[in-house]
Amino acid sequence: MKVYDVTLIPGDGIGPEITEAAIGVLEATGLAFEWDRQLGGISAMEATGNPLPEATLESIRRTRLALKGPLTTPVGIGFRSINVALRKEFALFANVRPAKTIIPGRFDHVDIVLVRENLEGLYMGREQWVEVDGDPHGQAESVAVVTRAASERVIRYAFEYARSHGRKKVTVVHKANILKFTSGLFLTIAREIAAEYAGTVEMNDLIIDNCAMQLVMRPETFDVIVTTNMFGDILSDEISGLVGGLGLAPGGNIGDEAAIFEAVHGSAPDIAGQHIANPSALILASAMMLDHIGETRAGDRVRRAVVATIIADRVRTRDLGGTATTREFGDAVAHRVA
Ligand code: NAI
Ligand code: MG
Repeated sequence: MKVYDVTLIPGDGIGPEITEAAIGVLEATGLAFEWDRQLGGISAMEATGNPLPEATLESIRRTRLALKGPLTTPVGIGFRSINVALRKEFALFANVRPAKTIIPGRFDHVDIVLVRENLEGLYMGREQWVEVDGDPHGQAESVAVVTRAASERVIRYAFEYARSHGRKKVTVVHKANILKFTSGLFLTIAREIAAEYAGTVEMNDLIIDNCAMQLVMRPETFDVIVTTNMFGDILSDEISGLVGGLGLAPGGNIGDEAAIFEAVHGSAPDIAGQHIANPSALILASAMMLDHIGETRAGDRVRRAVVATIIADRVRTRDLGGTATTREFGDAVAHRVA
């Protein structure tokens, strides 16, 4: 039997609790995993003095696959975001965030996959001060870099994702009316790539502000979305809000060398250690990991088990109005999967 080597970073706050639940579900698929447990974030800082130890990087270089709990990034002081560092280190160029209605409510048929360029654009934070009339902070400038190579890679990934997942449409989101160079290049490349998929995957484009409005008016009309880093950062949170919030939102950071799967939410320090966190987002991220390694049937089983646990079994954690603990919810999903 094939054994899958996976780097496991339990992370900070609720990370270890939700990671245990996700492992229980993955083990219940009957597939064999070899977990290489590694440190990252505050817990790594406390244990080794380094928030991103070399051993963790070494492990991901070897396994090329990681399941990661949330990592706390201290505000202001201390180290920079380890998540951003990992994306850079392994050139994880596409951030994939699926959002699908689980609990019917305001929107019953949302099924959107957002693909966000993960390495460049305005999000790089390439900023500088410019002196104005003797005031050294009289002007602030921020540079957005959009390259043909990175745009092609992420847009092609989005179209390939659409084709291989039986999806019909890719919406390219931009601001090419104003940002004629950066957003213009991204849109031009999208049109070139879309031509290769004519007859298989349809393309349309929307200006970012209109897209933000359309998403809350008619979210059911969206399929796959591809956009630049900062627009994707904002839209992905908007989209997770359409389907019930952070407790249900998984994400994958995909590169040619490695892929890292995680929940969209953070370490939730306000509820850490109480065993009430919802592990669904990380469990759904685990299902994305199964898809990524070609175990799509197991991935589907995990997704169906999460839905059945929440809807049919009515087992829910506190954020969804239930009383189940993290472990009880994880065990219920694992039971469904097995
Ligand atoms: P957060 O996502 O940790 O928490 C926001 C709110 O949602 C809190 O009230 C929390 O209790 C709740 N929440 C989040 N996940 C939940 C879950 N699974 N079940 C139930 N409730 C849940 O965001 P916040 O507070 O802004 O960030 C906390 C820390 O996490 C920060 O240090 C931040 O930098 C880090 N962070 C890390 C991320 C990552 O590793 N990918 C992503 C986002 C934030
Ligand atoms: Mg964000």
